[in-house]
Amino acid sequence: MEQKLIRNAIQSDKISVLNFCKNTFSWGDYIQDVWDYWLAEGNLLVIEKSYPVGMCHAFFSKNQVWIEGIRIDSNFRRQGLASELVKHVESLAREKQMSFSLMLIDTENTSSLLMAKNLNYQIFQTWNFYSLLPGITRNHKIKFGDLSNYPEISHYVESWRWLVLDNTALFSLSTQNRIIFSDKFGDISIAILTDSQHFDNTLIVTLFSGSQNNTLELISYIQNYGAQKNYKKIQILTKETLSLINNLEYKITFNLMKKLLC
Ligand SMILES: CC(C)(COP(=O)(O)OP(=O)(O)OC[C@H]1O[C@@H](n2cnc3c(N)ncnc32)[C@H](O)[C@@H]1OP(=O)(O)O)[C@@H](O)C(=O)NCCC(=O)NCCS
Repeated sequence: MEQKLIRNAIQSDKISVLNFCKNTFSWGDYIQDVWDYWLAEGNLLVIEKSYPVGMCHAFFSKNQVWIEGIRIDSNFRRQGLASELVKHVESLAREKQMSFSLMLIDTENTSSLLMAKNLNYQIFQTWNFYSLLPGITRNHKIKFGDLSNYPEISHYVESWRWLVLDNTALFSLSTQNRIIFSDKFGDISIAILTDSQHFDNTLIVTLFSGSQNNTLELISYIQNYGAQKNYKKIQILTKETLSLINNLEYKITFNLMKKLLC
């Protein structure tokens, strides 16, 4: 039987991996933009037969592992390779005493969702992705906060990873004025602003929308903030459905898949 091996990626794998990651999705792929960052971060894995035929990246933080960028060469699918990569990462995570494994899957990516369900992942939350164009706006009244009264907010998004919002993260975000809220009109809306580490001038917003008017206030502020700070793109992730105002564009919906490891 042909040998399979999972190993850490090296720089020279890039060409062969990018060869099968060109047209992964209808719009292409993003692996070419993150490969160097992920290689530098470590835990970039390839699965090879006599050459790499699959990859994924693992990001260990706090009590969880985040699995991203699972790709299998289309000539080698349905051979259990993606499942082996995921199980390999899970075993690394168990060695590090991590409690959870998480991954984000487009709600329309049936093959990937089936793979995750086969590996006992469950839909933990469903998140909508909207894009917003920066632009000058006026009359937005927001406040800066620290979220200490909102223990139900367990994660925030940083570079498209859902990370644990623990006290260290909270302190860092609030001292940088990266947590904003509006409570003028009924239920509070809260947003956490982070910079993408992988894409230039991209602002990533985790939004918890309590009421539409409060959310409008935040979106108006964020749009203006984006223009003032010269962001090119604003990406908003939220569990709620937003009204399409202020150049807000709905993009896609994702399931956040979670598995308990211990
Ligand atoms: C999704 C993907 C990673 C799966 O890789 P794979 O190596 O083919 O997956 P596996 O062989 O481990 O599949 C495990 C199970 O997932 C399910 N599955 C995987 N692909 C499937 C498909 N095309 N149709 C139906 N079920 C599928 C099956 O239940 C399969 O078990 P089975 O073959 O015994 O029936 C691969 O199709 C791929 O690279 N797709 C494009 C990139 C992508 O969508 N990545 C995930 C982003 S979150």
